[in-house]
Amino acid sequence: MDLLHNTLVSAAMNSSTLSPQPVQQRSRKVYMETFGCQMNQADSDIALARLAEAGYHEVSSGDEADLIIYNTCSVRDGAEGKIRGRLGAIKQRKSSDPNLRIAVMGCMAQRAKEELLKTYPQVDLVVGTDQFVHIPELLERLPEEGRLVATNFGDFENSGNWSTRRSDGVNAWIPVMRGCNYNCTYCIVPTTRGREKSRPPHLIEQEAREAVAAGHAQVTLLGQTVDAYGKTLGDGSNLATLLRRLHAIEDLKRIRFVTSHPKDITDELLDTMAELPKVAKHLHVPAQCGSNRILRLMGRRYTREGYLDFVRRARERMPDVELLTDIIVGFPRESDADFQETRTLMQEVGFAGAYVFMYSPRPGTGANNLADDVPLEVKKARCNDILGLQLAHQEAWYRTLHGREYEVLVEGLSKNNDQRIQGRSIGNLNILVDRFTADGRDLLQQRGQLLRVRIRDNTNLALYADPVQAHG
Ligand code: 5AD
Ligand code: SF4
Repeated sequence: MDLLHNTLVSAAMNSSTLSPQPVQQRSRKVYMETFGCQMNQADSDIALARLAEAGYHEVSSGDEADLIIYNTCSVRDGAEGKIRGRLGAIKQRKSSDPNLRIAVMGCMAQRAKEELLKTYPQVDLVVGTDQFVHIPELLERLPEEGRLVATNFGDFENSGNWSTRRSDGVNAWIPVMRGCNYNCTYCIVPTTRGREKSRPPHLIEQEAREAVAAGHAQVTLLGQTVDAYGKTLGDGSNLATLLRRLHAIEDLKRIRFVTSHPKDITDELLDTMAELPKVAKHLHVPAQCGSNRILRLMGRRYTREGYLDFVRRARERMPDVELLTDIIVGFPRESDADFQETRTLMQEVGFAGAYVFMYSPRPGTGANNLADDVPLEVKKARCNDILGLQLAHQEAWYRTLHGREYEVLVEGLSKNNDQRIQGRSIGNLNILVDRFTADGRDLLQQRGQLLRVRIRDNTNLALYADPVQAHG
């Protein structure tokens, strides 16, 4: 099927003053800047691999590039503001260098479409969340057809395995589903990424095997609601069956997955996580808020009690499971009493980590009909309050872990200190170990391998540990 021609929308907005040379005559250097979530990073990596096949070299600065791509995020207004800033800053260079191509891909491209061409004459190409693999062909069409917008939803998930640019890290990110069938009233994602679509399991397994063969010891499965994996396939696949399938890959040491919706976490999934030793005992399951009144306005489709029931079911099977949450503060009509319910939820659960966001109205979403009536100062104070609560909890909890042993998957050097190595527990604890042992071994050589350690100290963001000698 010719996806490209079936799904393109041409904006026919030629700018008559510029007369760019055909793309193939120019040196081909691409600079990509990626905003937002890990799914965007995964999409950037695929787009860059396609561009490499088409002869583009990646460069590390926009100044050297003759193609600049912004892979954009729309989840909060602040993210879009940053991108608008980038587009403003590049305008002058574009007017002095008509051969420079500017492309906008990702969620903001999908949301704003033609509006981006109208507002920013410096933009040549707008490519949506299902069309980015076609960037090389779209670039070829620019000289003849002028500026283009390609934002239709296609059949990306079934279109085979695209090659990707993998970092040399221990982890390989693997998108397993895209889009979202929920309609949380604050969220732009269902608009920007469309309906939920799962990839067939054999393609995922093939990609995971290739990643492991290339030296990655861990895979992290990605999806907006990853625990809903398989629903659109209709062949009985679900996240539990997928985990089982990947677990059989020899030399794969760890499997993680993000992000889950509380309603899709089945007992089968929890039982499978508990049973399979390579599967991380870690769940990122955003609660968003602790007040039933606000949860209803958010359209989250569970109650506080329902969320706590999920926590109970998870801990019954995996007493040490680490739960990570997202929290939105300052949703319309959130009163002090509602906010207190979020605080008490945090205290009752004791999350291993929390991302806290101030509500940001998004165009076209359900909540946009509600007045954004919590003042910014109140949002900021609530945000800081929750962050303080979380850090205090982490500090106190980490202190109880002194003396405990963990299997750490060694990821590499610590970011701030090349005399230490950094790794993760089977949950998601960030563990640092002195790089050189007393007998002179360099533990960096254990990168991608499991190392047994004992915790000796902590801050509120990291744990310090010593290696434990293997017995026998
Ligand atoms: N305002 C603030 N935070 C938001 N999120 C999603 N949409 C918004 C919004 N409009 C947060 C949610 C989600 C995370 C990825 O971003 O907490 O889980
Ligand atoms: Fe957005 Fe809700 Fe879907 Fe998550 S589950 S992507 S918050 S609509």
